[in-house]
Amino acid sequence: MQIIRFKNYEQLSDYTADFIVDALKNKPDLVLCMASGSTPALTCDLLVQKLKKDKVDYSTLTFIGLDEWVGLPPTNTGSCHCFFCTKIFEPLQLKPSQYHLFNAQADDLKSECEKMDGFIAEKGGIDIMIVGIGMNGHIGFNEPGTSFATLSHVAELDEVTKSVGQKYFSGPVQLGKGITIGFGHLMNTKKVFLMANGIKKAEVIKKTIEGPVTENFPASIMQRLENGFVLIDEEAASLLSKPH
Ligand code: GLP
Repeated sequence: MQIIRFKNYEQLSDYTADFIVDALKNKPDLVLCMASGSTPALTCDLLVQKLKKDKVDYSTLTFIGLDEWVGLPPTNTGSCHCFFCTKIFEPLQLKPSQYHLFNAQADDLKSECEKMDGFIAEKGGIDIMIVGIGMNGHIGFNEPGTSFATLSHVAELDEVTKSVGQKYFSGPVQLGKGITIGFGHLMNTKKVFLMANGIKKAEVIKKTIEGPVTENFPASIMQRLENGFVLIDEEAASLLSKPH
């Protein structure tokens, strides 16, 4: 794991967007998996701007959505699906064949997971994963206690996730389960970037980097990843006791 520190959120987002653009220039059939949420929001905007400005050919890019709230329609503005439609698919006019997201309204969620696992295998694995971190240390919806070996699965959301998750919605919503890509995929991804910014993420970043590696604190898996990068701004880095 490498730690890369930035002065602020803008610089962190700019670096991440540049990294994706360069990767796509070098590998036009890049397989990119991203989390939605507040953290990668600016990266998405900058990515779209930079791809257009540099006239990068993204016609063979494949995009995979990391997770979704179970039961939500893609039209719900708090859904991960809606986030990516607004921020990536529509601005870049991606063809539907270029992206794969969980259908969180499917009757058979187990088969949705198998479809995702099959899709990733068919694409030859994920090149770049951009993830955030939850206030309980989750990545995607890999909640505390989830095995590091799990592939795509449905998770019972813990209380922290259900309450923090309300921020994405215009009114209170009943959140119970999430569907997510698992750590088995994360471990096989060529490069994993965990992004965190702001003082509210300082505590979880300290545990991610300096705490024990344990399934009880999912993001600690980053310490095991040779190709893992933790990208943090000054505020998120503010509780680290060692100069990393
Ligand atoms: C959410 C999602 C994650 C996301 C994380 C942090 O619950 N399941 O994929 O990365 O929490 O979100 P944010 O970036 O909004 O803080």
